[in-house]
Amino acid sequence: MIVQPLHVNGPSFSRIITGVWRWHTVSPETVERLIHTSLEEGITTFDHADIYGDHTCEEVFGRTLKATPALRKKMQLVTKCDIKFPSSRRPNTWIKHYDTSEEHITWSVENSLKMLGTDHLDLLLIHRPDPLLNPHEVAEVFVKLKAAGKVLHFGVSNFTPSQFNMLQHYLPMPLVTNQIEISLSRIDPLFNGDLDLMLQLGASAMAWSPLGGGKINFDDRDWFGKASKYNATYSQLSLAWLMKHPSNIFPIIGTTKPERIKEAAKSVDFDLDKQDWFEMLKWAMGGREMP
Ligand SMILES: NC(=O)c1ccc[n+]([C@@H]2O[C@H](COP(=O)([O-])OP(=O)(O)OC[C@H]3O[C@@H](n4cnc5c(N)ncnc54)[C@H](OP(=O)(O)O)[C@@H]3O)[C@@H](O)[C@H]2O)c1
Repeated sequence: MIVQPLHVNGPSFSRIITGVWRWHTVSPETVERLIHTSLEEGITTFDHADIYGDHTCEEVFGRTLKATPALRKKMQLVTKCDIKFPSSRRPNTWIKHYDTSEEHITWSVENSLKMLGTDHLDLLLIHRPDPLLNPHEVAEVFVKLKAAGKVLHFGVSNFTPSQFNMLQHYLPMPLVTNQIEISLSRIDPLFNGDLDLMLQLGASAMAWSPLGGGKINFDDRDWFGKASKYNATYSQLSLAWLMKHPSNIFPIIGTTKPERIKEAAKSVDFDLDKQDWFEMLKWAMGGREMP
C-alpha cells in the first residue's frame, strides 16, 4: 500500500482509507477484525465522524485501541464534526442542523478523543457546510486545537470551491482536503471545479462512497472485457479509475467485510490505460462520449 501526503504540508495517509460509517451494522468483534485486516493490508488511515452509527462508531472502534494502545502509532485517525440531528443520545437537538460554533467544535473534538481513546486527531473535518459558519470563530477554535496538540490538521467535507476558499482565507493553516462524493456513479467533481481546486492548492480530495455505496450496477461482471484484461474485479477497477486522476484522490472504502478490504487494497497496483479510463467515463456517462 502506498502512503503519501494528502497535502503538500502533510499529513501522510494510506492511499486507500477505511471508512467506518457502516460499522454499526456488524459486531464489535468484526470491527476489531476490520481494523486489523486494514492494518495488515497497509491501510493505516481510518475515516470517522462523531455521528456515525448514531454516535456509537467512534466508541466501538476505541475499544480496540484501548485494549491495544500500541496500535495508535500505526494508524491515522480522521473524524468530523458539525452535524446535529435528533437522537436519544442528543436530547437537546430537535431538528437536523449544523453547528460550527467554537463551543460545539471544542466539545465535539474532546468527545471524539474520549470515544476513540486517543490524545490527538490526525485530521478534523467540518462535515457539511454550515450556512451560519463564522470563519473568524472557526479560525480561532482551529488555532486553539492545534496549539493544544489535539488536532494536527484540518479540512472540510462537501464544501463547494467557493466555500472552501472563503474559509481558507481566514485560516493561518491550510485546509488539507475536501472530502467529497466521487465515483463512477458521481462524476460531477471532474467537471465542477472541486478537483481543479485540489490540484491548484497541492491538496487531494478524499472520495466518499467510491463504489457508489455498493449501488453501481455492473450488469456485466467482466465489464466489457476490462476485468479479464487487468485480471481485476470491477470494484478494483472502479477504485483504480479514481486514483488515475492527477490530483491523487484518496478513496475511502466502506465495506464491512474483511475480504473486501483485501480486494480493495490491491487496487493501487492497477494503472489503467488512458483509453480504458475514458471508456469507463463513457460508461459512467450513460454511453455518451466526451464532446
Ligand atoms: N463526508 C461525508 O459526507 C461522507 C458521506 C458518506 C460516507 N463517508 C465516508 O465514506 C466511507 C465510504 O462510504 P460507503 O460505505 O458509501 O463506500 P462504498 O465503498 O462506495 O460502499 C460500501 C458499500 O458497498 C457494498 N459493496 C457491494 N459490493 C462491494 C464490493 N465489491 N466491494 C466493496 N463494497 C461493496 C458494501 O457492502 P459490504 O459491507 O457487504 O461489503 C457497502 O455496503 C464511509 O465509511 C465514510 O467514512 C463520508
